[in-house]
Parts: sequence; structure tokens; C-alpha cells
Amino acid sequence: MPRNRQIWLVSRPQGEANVDNFRLVESETPPLAEGQVLVRHHYLSLDPYMRGRMNEGKSYAEPQPLNQVMIGGTVGQVVESRHPRYVPGDWVVGMGGWQEYSVVDGNAAGLLRKVDVSRIPPSHYLGAVGMPGVTAWYGLVKIIEPRAGQTITVSAAAGAVGSAVGVLAKQRGCRVVGIAGGPDKCAYVRDELGFDDCIDYRQYPDLRALASALKAACPNGIDGHFENVGGTVLDAVMLRANAFSRVALCGMIAGYDGQPLPMLNPALILISRMRIEGFIVSEHMEVWPQALAELSELVGSGRFRPRETVAHGIESAPEAFLGLLKGRNFGKQLVKLVD
Ligand SMILES: NC(=O)c1ccc[n+]([C@@H]2O[C@H](COP(=O)([O-])OP(=O)(O)OC[C@H]3O[C@@H](n4cnc5c(N)ncnc54)[C@H](OP(=O)(O)O)[C@@H]3O)[C@@H](O)[C@H]2O)c1
Repeated sequence: MPRNRQIWLVSRPQGEANVDNFRLVESETPPLAEGQVLVRHHYLSLDPYMRGRMNEGKSYAEPQPLNQVMIGGTVGQVVESRHPRYVPGDWVVGMGGWQEYSVVDGNAAGLLRKVDVSRIPPSHYLGAVGMPGVTAWYGLVKIIEPRAGQTITVSAAAGAVGSAVGVLAKQRGCRVVGIAGGPDKCAYVRDELGFDDCIDYRQYPDLRALASALKAACPNGIDGHFENVGGTVLDAVMLRANAFSRVALCGMIAGYDGQPLPMLNPALILISRMRIEGFIVSEHMEVWPQALAELSELVGSGRFRPRETVAHGIESAPEAFLGLLKGRNFGKQLVKLVD
């Protein structure tokens, strides 16, 4: 059996997460028992939710235990199988964690999903045609419920979730305005993803300036907003939100290191009769097949070309993850484990 390299969480962050919270550990891979499958991970997904798992305390999910492999989505190939449904060479998506190999119980429901890599590159099953894509689909379709002609805004628009929100909203005939950090991300959002406009929030450091930029980009107001960041961005959107607008509260990454994110004017929820709804994509497994079918078609046909930032080698995972939390990624953040 191959030697395995893993990244463990060894301490909990006090404020900002840092590389010392993680440790690289080498271990033997145990021999397979009946029903088990050995998967070699080609890509590891890095996602903002992992920052929440590093903390102890109340959340929607259990904290990541210390001195164990960090949780994470993976796509890879079966290299050895003692399960009749899997043969070496099969491409599978799972939650293999921050490590090069995993031994998986092939009988456990939902742990492994075979994927077809003939039309869609394997890495996209961790992004646009995976959890982030379904997240975009759920928040947009089930919470925002967009109609043709309406104006939809989305923050972290160049990211894994945000890019899919915009593409899906354009499919539905909406005017789509992204909010992203920096001219390169905004150019990608407009020119490659096909959003109608994109606001570089770094050019508008205060609420008034950002709200004015939104007013210019959304002359008919905002009917639906997909929130990934929180703070000033949400405050500015609320100032421009139309009556009966909907906000899908997907993430608040600006506060993941413990920064408080007060809402400046909650009375606007009442004044505009807004609906603001938080959601966790893993609690809506019923929509995954429908969402993945639409996303596969968009990516497979080339109408949606998701962007990726790829770090190399398992040892690069902690730095790449910390970079994601600071917005250094451009599109889906991955770690490539096989060259
Ligand atoms: N509710 C759910 O079930 C669910 C599922 C998946 C993801 N999410 C959430 O969806 C959001 C997007 O996730 P993703 O995987 O697509 O990540 P991502 O957007 O690819 O990466 C995160 C991006 O957040 C942006 N950002 C804005 N303000 C930031 C700040 N103050 N600090 C750090 N980054 C900031 C950065 O882009 P800019 O440079 O453009 O600012 C950064 O690139 C996250 O909030 C995540 O927690 C929720």
C-alpha cells in the first residue's frame, strides 16, 4: 500500500488562522478490508466553510477534531478495490480530506460518487459542477426565485459560488451585476462570464460610494441579492433593494476570522419588505440532481468556463487555504495532488 501524506488540524485559531494550526503527517495506508476502496486524490477542494470547522463552539456543523485529517472534498481515481461497484481507474468524488489517498467504505451511502470526466475535467466536480455550483443554484433558484428582466446582484462574484450565480441568473434572463475585488476579477466577471456589470468594491471604500456605484449599475434597483461576504457590501445592497426583494444569505466571509459584522440599517428589511434567508447546501440534497444536470450542461457545452486557482502538492494546502480566506484566489481554489 502507498505511503500517504496528510494535513492535520493541530490547534484552533485565536483570531486569524495561520499555518501553525496545521501539520503535515506521513502515514501508512492500511490494507483494504472487504467492501473498501482505495482512492488516489487528484484534486483537493479548499472552501471557506473549513474556517468555521476549525473553531470550537456553536455552528451548523460539528467542529473539525484536532489531530485528525482536515475535512475536505476530493476528486480522484480508484487504484484498488474490494467492492464490486468500483474498479481501478474509476473517477470518484468524495470527502477524502486533506490527504493524498483515502480508504473508503464503498457501501456507505453518499461517500463516493462516480463521475464522467469525458466532457467535464475532474477538477470542475469540486467547483462549478459540485458543491459550490449547487450552492449557487439553490440560493438563486429556491430563495431569490429570479424572473426575467429582474436585477440580481452577487458578491464575491469571481469566486466559485459567485461565478455560477451570475451564469445561472443570465440563463434566466436577468440583469446581473457582480461585486468583486480588483479590476482583473471584474474584467473576468464581465467579459468572460457575461455579467452585465461588475463593481470593484475596493474602489469604493465607504458605504455611500459603494451604494452610489450600485445605483448606477442597477438603475431599476435590486430585486435579488446573493450574499457571500457580509458587512458593507450587504449594507450597500440593502440601500438599493426594491420592495419585496430577496436575499440568499450564503456566506459572510468578511467575518470568518471573528470580525463583528453589524448590520447598519435593519429597518430596511421592514421598509422594503425584504426576505433574507440563510441556507446550507448540504441540507438540500433533493435539489442536487436537478442543479448538477443544469450545471453539467453549461460547463460541458462550454457556455460556462469556470476559472480555477491551483496550488501544487499537499504541503501547499495550508498556505493556499489562508490565501483563499484573504481573497487571493481567483475562481475555485484547488490543490493538485498528482502531476
Ligand atoms: N451556505 C452554504 O451552503 C455555502 C456553501 C458553499 C460556500 N458558501 C459560502 O459562499 C461564499 C463563497 O465561497 P466560494 O467557495 O465561492 O469562495 P470564493 O468566492 O471562491 O473565494 C472567497 C472570495 O471571497 C471574497 N471576499 C470578499 N470579501 C472578503 C473578505 N473580507 N475577506 C476575504 N475574502 C473576501 C474574495 O474575493 P474578492 O477578491 O472578490 O473579494 C475571495 O476570493 C463563502 O462565503 C462561503 O462560505 C456557503
